Amino acid sequence: MQEVEFIWKNGKIIPWAEATVHLMTHGLHYGTSFFEGIRVYETPEGPAVFRLEEHIKRLHDTAKIYGQTITFSVEEIITACEDVIRANKLKSAYIRPIAYVGYGSMLVAPKECTIDLAVAAFPWGAYLGDEGLNNGIDACVSSWNRAAPNTIPTLAKAGGNYLSGFLICSEAHDRGFDEGIGLTVDGKLSEGAGENLFLIKNGVIYTPDSSSSILSGITRDTIITLAKEMGYEIREQAISREALYLADEVFFTGTAAEVTPVRSIDRKQIGEGQAGPVTKKIQKTFFGMFNGTTTGHEHWLHHIAPAASAQKSA
Ligand SMILES: Cc1ncc(COP(=O)(O)O)c(C=O)c1O
Repeated sequence: MQEVEFIWKNGKIIPWAEATVHLMTHGLHYGTSFFEGIRVYETPEGPAVFRLEEHIKRLHDTAKIYGQTITFSVEEIITACEDVIRANKLKSAYIRPIAYVGYGSMLVAPKECTIDLAVAAFPWGAYLGDEGLNNGIDACVSSWNRAAPNTIPTLAKAGGNYLSGFLICSEAHDRGFDEGIGLTVDGKLSEGAGENLFLIKNGVIYTPDSSSSILSGITRDTIITLAKEMGYEIREQAISREALYLADEVFFTGTAAEVTPVRSIDRKQIGEGQAGPVTKKIQKTFFGMFNGTTTGHEHWLHHIAPAASAQKSA
């Protein structure tokens, strides 16, 4: 991780090195944290946060699923994101807002919880590597399933959910793959350890629906919107495992993974064994939102105005 100077915590900008928690913090023991991953892109008009409001609303929604309230409003957290980007003078970045049940009780579900909130922002390149972004990655279907319905809610982006991702991803790495794909408990496709999954067959784009134990990704929604505008038919539905092997193209989406082509699954080549033509077109349209070549979605970009003092001196 590339360290920066400052982090925002409970309303204040503090030095990175001082952003620590007590060892008896509840979230550390029981996975009771609610978080987001958001990207800041360098655009011709300066740094812009992608779909910031949607991410912060999802953070509040995650807390709501767990019956918790983040005391900072969506607007206040948006301001915190802006402040931490400016404080660290970042042009592009990954933002990590995290709310967690804090110090004070070792009960699994304390009656009164302190919910702390921090927002970090730091530089982060392609999650699955530049090579993967351009030429595709090698994935496998994991022996670990995603959480069953009505166990750990997958529409919540909570710390504890990532124990599933940890198992899926580390098994994939141990077996020599770049990423693992989890199935639902009834053997249908779900998603990658930290990404949503799309496949293309005969020009139609398929993705597991929201009842397939997925996180309802904001990048997933972006790609569905862009692909429909590009004239593709999109089907959100339950998908069998073997459909993956027979797909013409497969790709992952996520804030960290962006749009990453998958060139093989379980050592079976997908399509031509490289980024396919539809995937490439979608990638180009996606990244075009940040260099100005894709228009019509400017409302998804939250521009960070320079700090007042910098404005004066400019
Ligand atoms: C399990 C999981 N699925 C899907 C996604 C993609 O979600 P988004 O596009 O909102 O980043 C993520 C990314 O955080 C994830 O962790």
